Amino acid sequence: MKTYLTYDDVNIVPKFSEVLSRDDVELSTRFTKNTELRLPIVSSPMDTVTEVDMVIEMMDRGGVGVLHRFNTIEEQSKMMKKVHYEWDKYFNIGDGKERSADNDYDEWYKRLRGRTPNESDFKDLREDYGMFTDSMAEDDRYWRHRPLCAAIGTTGDYLERAKELVKNGCNVLLIDVAHGHHKLVGDALEEIKKNISRVEVVAGNIATREGAEFLLQSGADGIRVGIGNGSLCETRIRTGVGLPQVSTLLDVVTICDDFDVPCIADGGIRNIGDICKGLGCGADSIMLGSLLSGTKESPGQIEKIGEWPNEKLFKKYRGSASRDSKGNDKNVEGNHKVIPYKGKTARILTDIKDGINSSFSYVGANNLSEFHSKVEFVEVTQAGQKEARPHLLN
Ligand code: XMP
Repeated sequence: MKTYLTYDDVNIVPKFSEVLSRDDVELSTRFTKNTELRLPIVSSPMDTVTEVDMVIEMMDRGGVGVLHRFNTIEEQSKMMKKVHYEWDKYFNIGDGKERSADNDYDEWYKRLRGRTPNESDFKDLREDYGMFTDSMAEDDRYWRHRPLCAAIGTTGDYLERAKELVKNGCNVLLIDVAHGHHKLVGDALEEIKKNISRVEVVAGNIATREGAEFLLQSGADGIRVGIGNGSLCETRIRTGVGLPQVSTLLDVVTICDDFDVPCIADGGIRNIGDICKGLGCGADSIMLGSLLSGTKESPGQIEKIGEWPNEKLFKKYRGSASRDSKGNDKNVEGNHKVIPYKGKTARILTDIKDGINSSFSYVGANNLSEFHSKVEFVEVTQAGQKEARPHLLN
């Protein structure tokens, strides 16, 4: 029988470095085949993690937020329209006063140019309005490759949902199911590709090479990896199924590389070191749930527990397959928890960025591609795991 390892079981070996300043390293990465990030961080499509505020925060910081699907098609599409409007502001074209998140983008464009927009319109507008300089070309290219991503399922009205989302600005759909190595996911991928043009699809979750290969052969543009490793996940205790994430990633990234498709390491991240280890395994980005829960930008009310001056603030975080989320006891595989209020997401993302910068510097990597090729892991004993935490305090 094979032994599989996870984040706490391994450490990254420090190496010769010529990185002069930790701030000089480059964190750009791909989210899908054709979309890019400047910070390899993705917020999970959970209803206590990612709605419009989180997506905008992630977008501003170079990461991406995936709008959850636990609402009506209309509600999710409206959120996508708002997100698209924020993205569109980057281009700053036309009369801003006429635009609002509630206006239809096509309508706004028609008013401006007298016809429905097509692919080359951004280019025309750039020339007409003289908005962009050469020095902005790279930024421009980057913003054109930004993912605007939303989750869908594989049954019921999923295709209608997908079409509405794309109509409202979505350029990446994420098939959000617990077991991605499944016929329904393969079928959904094919249906989406057949029926909707110009949209990429991230599929998952899988935890094996075979699972990844199945999705890649079905046309996935990104692979989401991780089964049974989330912070509120009960899959392994209720079903015994799942695989430790480090070995899983090492298995999956090789096949993703063969297809030249990026992979997202999802779940089980407890600290910034785990993010660096996930990237070190070859992941192109890291999806976070609990680390971003309880923040100002996560959905939900702040709850006050206790009275002044001893009051404490909390926000709820719940698994998508929890009883709390489903409203019934059927196939429950998750739990929920109140999280002490953490304040702004920006602070967390700054810490993450600093941590990744340092990790790159410790192995002498200037960018993610060098990090992927330079990182070497060692397996640590239980004594090594104890040593890895501040231990004077214990
Ligand atoms: P973290 O560890 O970052 O994990 O909180 C977030 C990921 O956990 C997954 N997820 C679940 N897994 N039951 C599960 O087995 C659930 O109810 C559940 N809800 C979320 C999901 O992949 C998410 O990105």
